Amino acid sequence: MIIDWKTIKELHVNKKMEQIVGQWFDLDFFYVDEQGRIQNDFKAKDYTFFSHFFKVQMGHNYGQEWLEQDVEKIFENIRNEGEMVFEYKTFFPHVHGMVAKVVVDGELLGAVCAYPFLKNDVTEKELGEVVKHMVECGLSEVEAKASVSKMRKLFPRERGYMKEMLDIVSDEVGTFHEEISKREARIHELSHEVGNKYRYHNLIGKSKRMQQIYHLLQKINSSEATILIQGENGTGKELVAKAIHYNSPRKEAVFLAVNCSAFNDNLLDSELFGHVKGSFTGAIKDKKGFFEVANGGTLFLDEIGDTSLTMQVKLLRVLQEGTFLPVGATTPKKVNVRVVAATNKNLKEMIAKGEFREDLYYRINVINVQLPSLRERVEDIPILMDFFLEKRCAESGVPLKQFAKKTMEKMLDYPWPGNVRELENEIERLVVLSGDDKMITPDILNQRMIEHGETGAAREHGHGLKGVNTNGSLKDALEELEIHMIREGLKRCGFNKSRLAKELGISRAGLIMKVEKYGLDKRLLKRAVGE
Ligand SMILES: Nc1ncnc2c1ncn2[C@@H]1O[C@H](COP(=O)(O)OP(=O)(O)OP(=O)(O)O)[C@@H](O)[C@H]1O
Ligand SMILES: [Mg+2]
Repeated sequence: MIIDWKTIKELHVNKKMEQIVGQWFDLDFFYVDEQGRIQNDFKAKDYTFFSHFFKVQMGHNYGQEWLEQDVEKIFENIRNEGEMVFEYKTFFPHVHGMVAKVVVDGELLGAVCAYPFLKNDVTEKELGEVVKHMVECGLSEVEAKASVSKMRKLFPRERGYMKEMLDIVSDEVGTFHEEISKREARIHELSHEVGNKYRYHNLIGKSKRMQQIYHLLQKINSSEATILIQGENGTGKELVAKAIHYNSPRKEAVFLAVNCSAFNDNLLDSELFGHVKGSFTGAIKDKKGFFEVANGGTLFLDEIGDTSLTMQVKLLRVLQEGTFLPVGATTPKKVNVRVVAATNKNLKEMIAKGEFREDLYYRINVINVQLPSLRERVEDIPILMDFFLEKRCAESGVPLKQFAKKTMEKMLDYPWPGNVRELENEIERLVVLSGDDKMITPDILNQRMIEHGETGAAREHGHGLKGVNTNGSLKDALEELEIHMIREGLKRCGFNKSRLAKELGISRAGLIMKVEKYGLDKRLLKRAVGE
């Protein structure tokens, strides 16, 4: 979780500490986030500097840049630095700073810096070099001299005190951050509890259709009735079966799923009901069937529409009487199993054609759950997308990615013939294909989706703007182009932002802002894999 620097800077302890250290040593504190971005606004009207030198530096056009260079250097190595607080060299010769890492749970979340100071053994000649450097950078000689002479020359003991102070501040930042995180986690939990309607067990969806299903499932929680779940492929039939089982009084017992279409008739017979030794070639010992194994629990008969008429008779018997006959046995067995069945076939049509027994249909269809296709609940697509994205990113250990607006639009437009399963697979693919990028852009979408409703595709490619959509609003297209250019540029320049900013003809700060906005920084990814 990212630190809320604004609040941290306002903390009373930190303000106090800044004041003490500032007055003692004539230097200033500033805060840096986990990516090395400075959090203080030195240009703010009411900003007061303790250090005259710092004030003079920040009065220069490039003052901020010089400071950023220092910080960039610190951050190149900060994760390998063994000490929590250490001194660093700055843009100006013989001028030093001190930095304390902010680490929470082993994760670097930023740093607190104290700047600038000289060391007690600095010579007159060296001080002259500082002034010379400042003048070369375009500062007036009078100002340079005055600010250098006012800078404190710190003895090792004083630097030791400062180290302790900085340590306290960085500690405070970490502790406070942890407190806030805990509080936010609780708020999140609470809002989740309240907003429970968006999910039921593992089912996700806020659409009216899904809400009705949750409501129905809740009502039948403690019922023992047989349930028939119907829906297209990938609409979550198995998920519903599990939700039923794990919310029922049988939840401590087995949930067993059998795919009826995976066996031929004879095999299914023996799988479901078991067999006795010697009942057929290969039956070398007694074998328990699924009905017996699932005793006390729930048996999920998936693809029940694929069973033969003879099998249907046997199923009907077990459902009605709770007894069945293992293959080759002479005495029936009795079990207590709750049956949940599912199919993507239209059983009514099958009955009309004589392919499914009507009596069995009415026996299993005591309660009917009809799952809507994804097309019928388009409003659930965004939350399902977010859910699968979060899950995928967490599973593969990458920082949470984000869908570009255009990607989202395309996914909403697509008819999803494979329903939730197809959506889940597509997101898995996108997470992989987006590589180091935080933003999932539409150019990597499945070809089917890119082509769906896309009339301008060929034209775009003809213009050499591959991956940038020239349909839609100009603002969106420009944004996409910007993302594209920055992403490629960063790779080309080895993530050297100063260089890329120059190439693109924008300020370094401007580039950093855009990189942050679009989440294109590779350092984010590095952090997640623990570098
Ligand atoms: N409402 C939902 N919320 C979250 N995930 C879902 C939802 N519906 C389906 N899924 C996910 O989609 C995938 C397919 O679901 P499931 O296997 O339950 O579908 P099915 O209807 O049994 O499909 P098939 O007919 O192909 O067997 C699973 O990975 C499941 O987790
Ligand atoms: Mg299934």
